[in-house]
Amino acid sequence: MEEKRTVCVTGASGYIGSWLVKRLLERGYHVRATVRDPGDEKKVKTLLELPKASTHLSLWKADLAEENSYDEAIQGCEGVFHVATPMELVHQGQDGEEEIESTTLNGILSIMRSCSKPKTVKRFVYTSTTGTITVQPQPPLHEYTEDLWTDVDLCYELKMYGWMYLVAKTTAEKAAWKYAEENGINMVTVHPSIVLGHFITPHTSFSTDVATAFYTTNMALLKKIHRSPAVHLDDVCNAHIYLFEHPLAKGRYICPSHTVNLFEIAHSLGLKYPDRNIVTEFEGLDRSPKIIPCSSKKLMALGFEFAHKNKDVGDFCAEIIAQRNGFALMIEKLNFQIFELFNGLKI
Ligand SMILES: NC(=O)c1ccc[n+]([C@@H]2O[C@H](COP(=O)([O-])OP(=O)(O)OC[C@H]3O[C@@H](n4cnc5c(N)ncnc54)[C@H](OP(=O)(O)O)[C@@H]3O)[C@@H](O)[C@H]2O)c1
Repeated sequence: MEEKRTVCVTGASGYIGSWLVKRLLERGYHVRATVRDPGDEKKVKTLLELPKASTHLSLWKADLAEENSYDEAIQGCEGVFHVATPMELVHQGQDGEEEIESTTLNGILSIMRSCSKPKTVKRFVYTSTTGTITVQPQPPLHEYTEDLWTDVDLCYELKMYGWMYLVAKTTAEKAAWKYAEENGINMVTVHPSIVLGHFITPHTSFSTDVATAFYTTNMALLKKIHRSPAVHLDDVCNAHIYLFEHPLAKGRYICPSHTVNLFEIAHSLGLKYPDRNIVTEFEGLDRSPKIIPCSSKKLMALGFEFAHKNKDVGDFCAEIIAQRNGFALMIEKLNFQIFELFNGLKI
């Protein structure tokens, strides 16, 4: 078998990053995985235990907030998959608004400058989100496409759930396209919506929180996905690799496979877990909302096929719930109830 090339994955310990590393190793790539703390055994153990890790994986210390931090890891790589984002700042709430934007923006530009130095990087693949597309003053009549850009001013005005994340990702992606054009970087962006499905990270993430919210009854999170598209983790990671390898890949690629109606997911999960008190009623939400699709036509026209398109999103969530079974789920539910109680007391 042909010996594959060396690539770098940022945010390799995360929900998406770790699965991407796993798939790249399986395809024979040598992977340089960046994490902020390679000594954090809890975070990196899963990566180090992956098949082929002993011969094909190396860990590199790098931080989005530090200029030149990625120089060494990227030196000599043919591809860079930039997955890292300061998600924990998003979870910490609105106080971190400026830091989220500056870390996301300065981070991507710093990584792109690192790509410009060695001249070995043939393609830069950035994990964006449908959130850099879908916030529009007037939604499109038929579908969201790659030509649209989220209206950042509208995010500031509406301050919807996770708005600072949407601002940061949109601002960063725009700046990245400008840098790519001015400096001859071959960049493609992947735009997943909510990513769900079985995973290998030991810690929780936005995706695992969304799936388990049906159990922990975190309504704020659930309402966020009422009309959201979704995609399986494995499909997202395979799409990243497909777009890296395809000679004709160019530009932005929307990547969901399913459009979600919260009531349908809840119903599907309720059938799978009849004894778990899955939330199935959502006060104030439309049971049959008009959903404007976020189309992955461009990705599919390039020949990509979603392997998980025949499952439903309830199946994706069930995979996560099954992994976070028993004790872990009980603790999450308890933590969330305590959080709600204190929130209530503050009011
Ligand atoms: N999950 C989704 O549903 C979803 C949907 C659409 C788009 N996305 C995009 O997918 C990407 C990954 O998301 P995820 O769900 O996998 O998130 P995640 O599990 O929270 O992983 C994010 C990773 O980013 C790294 N990171 C955070 N702050 C950093 C910093 N200052 N410097 C360097 N690394 C830092 C963390 O690694 P260390 O702590 O090890 O350094 C972490 O492993 C993000 O760009 C996100 O915007 C996710």
